[in-house]
Amino acid sequence: MAFLRQVFSLLISVLVIVFSSEYVACQGANSSSSTIEVLLEVKQSFEDPRNVLKDWSKNNPNSCFWRGVSCARNPANGSFQVVSLNLSDSSLGGTISPSLGLLHDLLQLDLSSNQLSGPIPTTLSNLSSLESLLLFSNQLSGPIPPEIGTLINLQILKIGDNIGLTGPIPDSFGNLQNLVILGLASCSLSGHIPAELGKLTQLQYLILQDNQLDGLIPAELGNCSSLVLFTAAVNSLNGSIPTELGSLQNLQTLNLANNTLSGEIPSFGEMNQLVYLNLLGNKLEGGIPKSLTNLQNLETLDLSANKLTGGIPTEFGSMGLINYLVLSSNNLSGVIPKEICSNTTNLEHLMLAENKLFG
Ligand SMILES: *[C@@H]1O[C@H](CO)[C@@H](O)[C@H](O)[C@H]1NC(C)=O
Ligand SMILES: *[C@@H]1O[C@H](CO)[C@@H](O)[C@H](O)[C@H]1NC(C)=O
Ligand SMILES: *[C@@H]1O[C@H](CO)[C@@H](O)[C@H](O)[C@H]1NC(C)=O
Ligand SMILES: *[C@@H]1O[C@H](CO)[C@@H](O)[C@H](O)[C@H]1NC(C)=O
Ligand SMILES: *[C@@H]1O[C@H](CO)[C@@H](O)[C@H](O)[C@H]1NC(C)=O
Ligand SMILES: *[C@@H]1O[C@H](CO)[C@@H](O)[C@H](O)[C@H]1NC(C)=O
Ligand SMILES: *[C@@H]1O[C@H](CO)[C@@H](O)[C@H](O)[C@H]1NC(C)=O
Ligand SMILES: *[C@@H]1O[C@H](CO)[C@@H](O)[C@H](O)[C@H]1NC(C)=O
Ligand SMILES: *[C@@H]1O[C@H](CO)[C@@H](O)[C@H](O)[C@H]1NC(C)=O
Repeated sequence: MAFLRQVFSLLISVLVIVFSSEYVACQGANSSSSTIEVLLEVKQSFEDPRNVLKDWSKNNPNSCFWRGVSCARNPANGSFQVVSLNLSDSSLGGTISPSLGLLHDLLQLDLSSNQLSGPIPTTLSNLSSLESLLLFSNQLSGPIPPEIGTLINLQILKIGDNIGLTGPIPDSFGNLQNLVILGLASCSLSGHIPAELGKLTQLQYLILQDNQLDGLIPAELGNCSSLVLFTAAVNSLNGSIPTELGSLQNLQTLNLANNTLSGEIPSFGEMNQLVYLNLLGNKLEGGIPKSLTNLQNLETLDLSANKLTGGIPTEFGSMGLINYLVLSSNNLSGVIPKEICSNTTNLEHLMLAENKLFG
């Protein structure tokens, strides 16, 4: 009996410890009662067919352990704050609640790959600490709120693959000085590429393909010195390719295919890192610049379906890494240089059809 009593009292003290630490956590999470209210409002605007948010409930008050929620303790006052909300790929429908703007300590918000519809709430611009905002692959619609451009701590902004997103890329995005990734592909965005994006000196990935953007490619993009990848394929961009892009020394991928760009191909001679250059399906004219043959890291070059004239520079034969060279459907003429075949050991795909070439 004495033994059992000992076990029993041990059990009680364990329970007391468990409960009191639980209690301290609740005390500490003072702001948490309002945070719970906010999260439940957020839940209410979602449709949740798989019931992935079943643990989001008043009966389960430790919201820091709810699915997708991560908290951190504020060192100043010991309270817990929600720093990350990740409900990506959770089959969620419904809309994004404007109440999310009240979770002011959020650093990461990831609602990507769901079926969310309706607008991007303007109140997200109150999340002033936000470092990543991922809303891609949903069915969001309407314009991108220009107020998002006040979130100066953003490093990653990916809202592409929302076919209903319309209107322009906000000029205010030029204020996002810490931005590293800007993903806006496969929406229905229109208007010009803002020259203000040229202020984004940290930007490495600028992904704009498959929209309805028109007008000129701003020369200012040549100031985005960190750019590694720039793709604006499948838009209605016109005018000539700014020579300023040639100064992007870190650029590895440039894809401007399927626009209505005209004029001559500029000298890309300083783009020493360039691996992939795709200009197919434009209205580019003039000759193939010899300077392209200085791009010693180039593996893919597609200039097909343009209005290029003149011959193929023999120097293509000395481009060691090129393995995909497509120049078909132009008005090229002259002799196919022997060097292309003999010296370009990596060449696997060479397409020259629909020109006036001999050799
Ligand atoms: C909790 O809030 C009350 C007032 O609402 C305040 O007096 C108390 O200091 C707070 N506790 C903590 C741990 O922040
Ligand atoms: C703790 O400090 C943070 C940041 O200053 C503040 O947002 C939060 O409301 C504070 N929490 C409490 C319970 O005072
Ligand atoms: C959110 O969770 C998914 C799946 O667990 C993960 O792949 C993704 O990187 C997370 N997002 C962020 C911003 O950490
Ligand atoms: C966002 O902040 C503005 C002012 O900074 C305020 O008027 C508005 O009520 C806030 N909205 C939310 C949802 O926090
Ligand atoms: C950015 O580029 C434009 C046009 O190429 C140029 O006039 C401007 O001086 C540049 N700005 C900075 C800050 O480098
Ligand atoms: C580009 O297209 C716009 C209409 O969208 C037109 O006004 C402008 O003249 C065009 N510019 C060039 C250089 O073709
Ligand atoms: C350009 O358009 C052609 C024909 O519509 C299509 O086959 C090709 O995949 C497109 N290329 C790119 C890079 O978008
Ligand atoms: C090639 O040039 C001829 C005239 O020399 C012209 O008729 C034809 O349209 C041009 N083809 C292309 C694809 O530009
Ligand atoms: C191609 O290789 C031969 C030797 O194999 C060399 O003499 C010639 O200069 C090379 N041509 C080019 C364009 O690099």
